[in-house]
Amino acid sequence: MAGRRKGRVRRPAGEELELEVERLVNGPGAMARAPDGRVVFLDEGLPGERVRAQVESERKGFLRARVVRTLDPPAQARRAPPCPVVALCGGCPWQALEYESQVEAKQDVVLREVERACGSPPQAMLEPIVGPQWRARHRIRLAVMRHSDAEPAIGYRARGAHEVVPIGDCAIAREELVAALPLARLLARQQKAIREIELSIDGRAQLRLRGVCSSSGPPDVDALHSSLSGWAEQLDLRGGAYAGLVLEPGDPAAGWRVAAGDVMQRIGVAPDMEIGVPVGAFTQVNGELNRALVSAVVDASAGGGDRRVVDLYCGAGNFSLPLARAGAHVVGLDVDEVAIAAATASAVSLGLADRARFEVGVADDRALARLTEGPDVVVLDPPRAGAAAVLPAVLALRPPVLVYVSCDVATFGRDARAILAAGWSFSSLRLIDLTPQTYRAEVLGVFRLTW
Ligand SMILES: C[S@@+](CC[C@H](N)C(=O)[O-])C[C@H]1O[C@@H](n2cnc3c(N)ncnc32)[C@H](O)[C@@H]1O
Repeated sequence: MAGRRKGRVRRPAGEELELEVERLVNGPGAMARAPDGRVVFLDEGLPGERVRAQVESERKGFLRARVVRTLDPPAQARRAPPCPVVALCGGCPWQALEYESQVEAKQDVVLREVERACGSPPQAMLEPIVGPQWRARHRIRLAVMRHSDAEPAIGYRARGAHEVVPIGDCAIAREELVAALPLARLLARQQKAIREIELSIDGRAQLRLRGVCSSSGPPDVDALHSSLSGWAEQLDLRGGAYAGLVLEPGDPAAGWRVAAGDVMQRIGVAPDMEIGVPVGAFTQVNGELNRALVSAVVDASAGGGDRRVVDLYCGAGNFSLPLARAGAHVVGLDVDEVAIAAATASAVSLGLADRARFEVGVADDRALARLTEGPDVVVLDPPRAGAAAVLPAVLALRPPVLVYVSCDVATFGRDARAILAAGWSFSSLRLIDLTPQTYRAEVLGVFRLTW
């Protein structure tokens, strides 16, 4: 027991504890406290519920435990989840919680994570932006599992496991995507190298598939596209129409990508503004709330004037092009050359080429030095790992406004701490619930330079 804090008792794996769930956390489970005060991370449970939980492991300063059963009447906000596979599937861990309580819990997680990282709560936490809690995703990614010669199983990964939970419906996906599941099954049956299938629908109700393959060379994409087109004609796609197919290797080093049909998605990002996004380039998963997010980014950045804006991790111009239309001079940077080519083409077709230019590159100090000298605003929308690689260079430019869009509240907290320490303060922080039924939080932090 040397080095152990006084009063702390070793909890052997397998021991059962009675606990009261304190709150939901930035992860699929919940948090409680052991009798000795240590934090216990539970695999499930809702705030206020008393549970019996079995200790699974002990780490430095906290325990992990699995709920065996709920003891008291369940929490008032608990509901019967509508999805029949929710207990197996890893996709929607918050589905048993009424939606209003989900939003409150997510807001609480964001506040706590930012306070923990920055040492004080953000000054101006705005009302969350929310939309429909069901049928909002316009893009889903399905795993394909094969057992010898049997029909391949298509679905989501199981909770904490590699297995696939086959699905016949998905309550968070747009109904056109659910209606198109037979196309994904046909593709998996016809091409045995396919390991993962992404189904997406764009703003013109065009459905597309992207298959990730384990083969070293490209399969015959034209033959597969022709089979899918024929099969799509037999299906009721609920207003959707099959448009095209992309096949890619799981290992990008294999160096091939093949496509058939029309694989350019048209995404409405602002009133009367559509941009082209090639299948495979990034799109936000929730089309309706993406427009609300774009509008909030434009409000925070454009300021009605002729501002110079740098849009880092710009994708296909989701923010840059509406910003250019609002009067800003924008330069966007992204590592994905396919997305940058599409952003450049959209700028031309929208008549914004004199206000928006795009470059391919990794976001780092050298790229930033090449792009700009003194921007008024820097917009950052990095992947989950955050913007640590470019942040020191961004801060050295001292832009009066920083607009940070994040899909990971932990790395956002880490980067926000660096931003605050360098002289900016929170102008606002806002949750945008792009992914209801999950713990994932999209946040928009706006920072103003104060010294
Ligand atoms: C969360 S997406 C945001 C895209 C865009 N802002 C939007 O709203 O559609 C992150 C983007 O970062 C790009 N990316 C990832 N790592 C990068 C890096 N190191 N440097 C530059 N871009 C990167 C990806 O290609 C992707 O387009």
